[in-house]
Amino acid sequence: MSNADANTLIENRVNSGILGQWYPVSKSVEVTKDKPHGVEALGEKFVLWRDESGEVQCLSDICPHRGVPLSKGRIHNGNVSCAYHGVIVSGDGTVVSVPAMQNCALEGQKTTKSFEVYEIYDAIFVYIPSPDRPKAPPLKLPKEFVSPNWSGFLCTSVWDTNYRYAFDNLADPMHGSYLHAESFTLAYGSKEDVMDVTKTENGFIVSRTGQTSENFDWTEFEFHEGTMFCFLDIPYPKAAGPGGNMRIVGFVTPVNESTCKVFFWRMREVTGIQLESWRFLYRAELESRHWKVLEQDREILEAASDEARTHENLYQHDIGVGNIRFALFELAKSNVESDPAYGTQ
Ligand code: FES
Ligand SMILES: [Fe+2]
Repeated sequence: MSNADANTLIENRVNSGILGQWYPVSKSVEVTKDKPHGVEALGEKFVLWRDESGEVQCLSDICPHRGVPLSKGRIHNGNVSCAYHGVIVSGDGTVVSVPAMQNCALEGQKTTKSFEVYEIYDAIFVYIPSPDRPKAPPLKLPKEFVSPNWSGFLCTSVWDTNYRYAFDNLADPMHGSYLHAESFTLAYGSKEDVMDVTKTENGFIVSRTGQTSENFDWTEFEFHEGTMFCFLDIPYPKAAGPGGNMRIVGFVTPVNESTCKVFFWRMREVTGIQLESWRFLYRAELESRHWKVLEQDREILEAASDEARTHENLYQHDIGVGNIRFALFELAKSNVESDPAYGTQ
């Protein structure tokens, strides 16, 4: 295989999404015991539901009988039952019953792919295996998720753009001073700066060199075995109540090549009465303002064409964008090179 062919395979893999990763796919409240819930990630369809004990189950969203989506069906004693002819499949992908036909040979067969699931902080993560990592490693959680001192709200949004643009956006603190210049929290600081990238133990920080804690001034990316996420701080003015900066913990899930879903936890390091007052203020006033900011990101990225990156002329500010792209390329390269079919094409 030529280098050009190998690079095309890697580029295609970056574009569809990195395999061998945990991705948040849904809010916890969307997955119930009453009704199957269909989601898409990396171009594949999945069905999620809760069994009788409340545990989330996840299968390929394809009925083993004639392939229609199981997510259009019903829940039956903790299993999913297809709307078309009633075939019932359990959470491990085994056909439990074929009610339309006695002693059907399909019964007892494990026909449908099942996926590992983890529920944390109001979200459901699914592990999308890769050839070299078919079993999920433990999901490495952001430290804010496991600390009793942090509290927050999950906000999700579907963006009609490839996930790579959402990552680029997160790796680009400079846009805060322009795109969000009119906003409550991001109106401060200078409109001109030089960017810096610092390597960390598990990733890198991209930061403005001229200011900290005035605006959206830095983003840190962490890459662990089977997961990647980032975090950044938005300084809060006094009027926004107690506690320090608001921290965004962000995950981006590729839905398909032209859509992604962002999962942003808006968190603060507040406890006790401060926590209560922040939660109240957030619901009453701040949430709608944050939504406005997030919509500005969505609108600008959706307005760009899929080929936006072929028209680029990057400059010094894009050093973070360069770093996140390199990291995704390296992950995709290891996906591609670990595929047993690699080199035989
Ligand atoms: S297609 Fe699902 S039961 Fe027939
Ligand atoms: Fe933004």
